[in-house]
Amino acid sequence: MKARFEGRVAIVTGGGGGLGRAAASAFAREGAAVAVVDIDQVAADETAAIIDAEGGRALSLAIDVAESAQVERMVAVTVKAFGRLDAAFNNAGVSEGYGADDEWNEAILDRALAINVRGVYLGMKYQVPEMQRGGGGAIVNTASIAGLVGTGTYHYVASKHAVVGLTRAVAMKYASFGIRINAVCPGAVRTAMVERSIAAGFGPVLDALHPIGRIGEATEIADAVLWLCSDQASFVTGHPLAVDGGATAR
Ligand SMILES: NC(=O)c1ccc[n+]([C@@H]2O[C@H](COP(=O)([O-])OP(=O)(O)OC[C@H]3O[C@@H](n4cnc5c(N)ncnc54)[C@H](O)[C@@H]3O)[C@@H](O)[C@H]2O)c1
Repeated sequence: MKARFEGRVAIVTGGGGGLGRAAASAFAREGAAVAVVDIDQVAADETAAIIDAEGGRALSLAIDVAESAQVERMVAVTVKAFGRLDAAFNNAGVSEGYGADDEWNEAILDRALAINVRGVYLGMKYQVPEMQRGGGGAIVNTASIAGLVGTGTYHYVASKHAVVGLTRAVAMKYASFGIRINAVCPGAVRTAMVERSIAAGFGPVLDALHPIGRIGEATEIADAVLWLCSDQASFVTGHPLAVDGGATAR
């Protein structure tokens, strides 16, 4: 079977961490050249090195997704290096505000909106024209089950609902241009973001939130992201896909 992304080019933001690293590696294994993007240069380099060691093609870029000029550069450098852009996983994000005094902390709200929402907005702003030039493409934005239900900190829930809305609105605009735009809505997944809660003793509580009886693995989210970016999802756009072990089906 031909690899689904042979000859294609993908950008993955937050590629130095859990979900991003898993998706970047999966894209590369399926034939894509991958731009691994993260605010943390060392983490992005590590992911690119993993891909190189597996025989894939990757470049790594230190980019703050909340900064317009940097995101513009992200797309420009990727296209200069690999010639085109077919897929993007706008995944960089933060989940903060779990302290006792954080409920109405405006700085935490501003950061959640800047990285989780503005970051996704800017990603699409520069990716869409490049995909139009190439004749089409597919984008997946990382929301969360916190983008579908009201469980979580206000800052995070607001930001992830915004990601779902933004995904739908931009998907409508570009559906007839051959560009599909979807969101993935993971339940709790074993990454650095969640390991902190597990270390604090919340592992059993997190497992119990999911009818399947456990939290997810990053590779299970990557599988959904690659499917949404692949030709197999050719009739899917504007959709927030829950990959959550049944958590939002309760
Ligand atoms: N882990 C979960 O349970 C879970 C569940 C639902 C949604 N999510 C979402 O998945 C995405 C990835 O989370 P993760 O669990 O892999 O977390 P993670 O902390 O392991 O990875 C996030 C990565 O994003 C990078 N990053 C943060 N701010 C950035 C910025 N301004 N510019 C560029 N990169 C930046 C970090 O350096 C890190 O490498 C986030 O959007 C998160 O909200 C995670």
